[in-house]
Amino acid sequence: MATIATFINNEVCSSTTTLTELTNVNSAQNEQNSIDSKPVAIFNDDKLSVLLEDIKKDQSLTVSPHASDHEQISNALKAHIQSINNDTCAPGEENSFFVCDINEVRNLYKNWCDELPRVQPHYAVKCNPQPELIKILASFGVNFDCASKMEIDTILKLGISPDRIVFANPCKVGSHIRFAQQNGVEMTMFDNVEELHKIKKFHPNAKLFLRIATDDSTAQCRLSTKFGTHLSAVPELLQTIKDLQLNLVGISFHVGSGASDFGSLYKAVRDSRWVFDIATNQYGLPPLKTLDVGGGFQLASFKESSKILRLSLEEFFPENCGVNIIAEPGRYFAETALTLATHIIAKRKVNDDEAMIYINDGVYGNLNCILFDHQEPTPRILYHNDQFHYDDFQSTSPVSTPNHPYKVSIWGPTCDGLDCITKEYYMNRDLVVGDWLYFPNLGAYTSSAATPFNGFDQHVDTIFINQDL
Ligand SMILES: Cc1ncc(COP(=O)(O)O)c(C=O)c1O
Repeated sequence: MATIATFINNEVCSSTTTLTELTNVNSAQNEQNSIDSKPVAIFNDDKLSVLLEDIKKDQSLTVSPHASDHEQISNALKAHIQSINNDTCAPGEENSFFVCDINEVRNLYKNWCDELPRVQPHYAVKCNPQPELIKILASFGVNFDCASKMEIDTILKLGISPDRIVFANPCKVGSHIRFAQQNGVEMTMFDNVEELHKIKKFHPNAKLFLRIATDDSTAQCRLSTKFGTHLSAVPELLQTIKDLQLNLVGISFHVGSGASDFGSLYKAVRDSRWVFDIATNQYGLPPLKTLDVGGGFQLASFKESSKILRLSLEEFFPENCGVNIIAEPGRYFAETALTLATHIIAKRKVNDDEAMIYINDGVYGNLNCILFDHQEPTPRILYHNDQFHYDDFQSTSPVSTPNHPYKVSIWGPTCDGLDCITKEYYMNRDLVVGDWLYFPNLGAYTSSAATPFNGFDQHVDTIFINQDL
């Protein structure tokens, strides 16, 4: 145990050196503690970089969302806006609102099954907990990743069976563990010894997944700085599992939300193989049954990430190896399915060429993703001077162009100076109070973290379209 800690030097071994190399060094240093299982990695770091470059270059890997549903989205936006009379409406009736395209969700699920047929998705509820979205996903056969008592409750209240839930929080509140136990939620994660003692006390028969850290340094939102054990600590955790007679069923990881370097996916699968092997070969635990490859997927890079995942699984967990593969995608299933429409409530001219415009949603509301999720939402003109412009996908530009002469900064409705959507954007029309903007692809990590700060209630309506297709 100690030798592993020494040579790995508290690094996730995937960061620079191949696991095969590391295990070789270890056995040379200390025969007594040598690791029996040495997965032979086909792709060392150099070969992996070449493979990743090739996959990135492959043009056939690109996809565009809403391939066929723009008309329906446009009609839904139009119908709602036309139903509002700004001169007479009650406070809040002109609130921002979402349109959720169920057909997009259906296509995303189909796309998932085509690309990753071996991988059972568990939708990460935190990403967008709208019950209608959850019900649709459940009807397709998607299962769920919950992080808290309330998320578990949301799923159970919809009549979804507890065996379709992974309680995927490695550092849980004790009472939430008891709630999971009382309600039949058996699968849960851990990444530290203290958590194992809590689980022993409150849920001794739980099906446990050991979460390992990944190299998520290039992800939009890093998670391994907070969760996941380094490989050097795995032996101590396996020994504790054995001592406490707990039920380890699998390994999990997350390569970071909004991941872009999918080499980390390959390395995490390889590291998981190592843990699978030593759990049985060195600690005598029953063979592990499930690998959970976490989240981090998004439509724009899905073909790329799934190709790398397929290659990784073929190498380390081939089809006939008896291991189930599950995942915890959030962003992938929610991002492109929802469009946000917002109303321009005020405007202040800065000079002849520039204005500040104020909309009725912002960083404390459904655009909190700017602060919490490092997103840069794209504003587009929806309604100007009694005309709808949804189809004008070139109505705005992040940089000045001859076609976009109107420079604006866009601000949220609260009194906080931080409530800024963008300091600089360029419009092809001179927007006025009463106009509407829309933001495409705004379903992930948006409404789930909206607050009523400053008295602006941002729990807004969602219009669902294409439910019956
Ligand atoms: C444990 C866990 N699983 C899944 C997810 C979903 O990740 P993503 O939305 O990037 O797919 C998250 C996101 O924070 C997470 O923490």
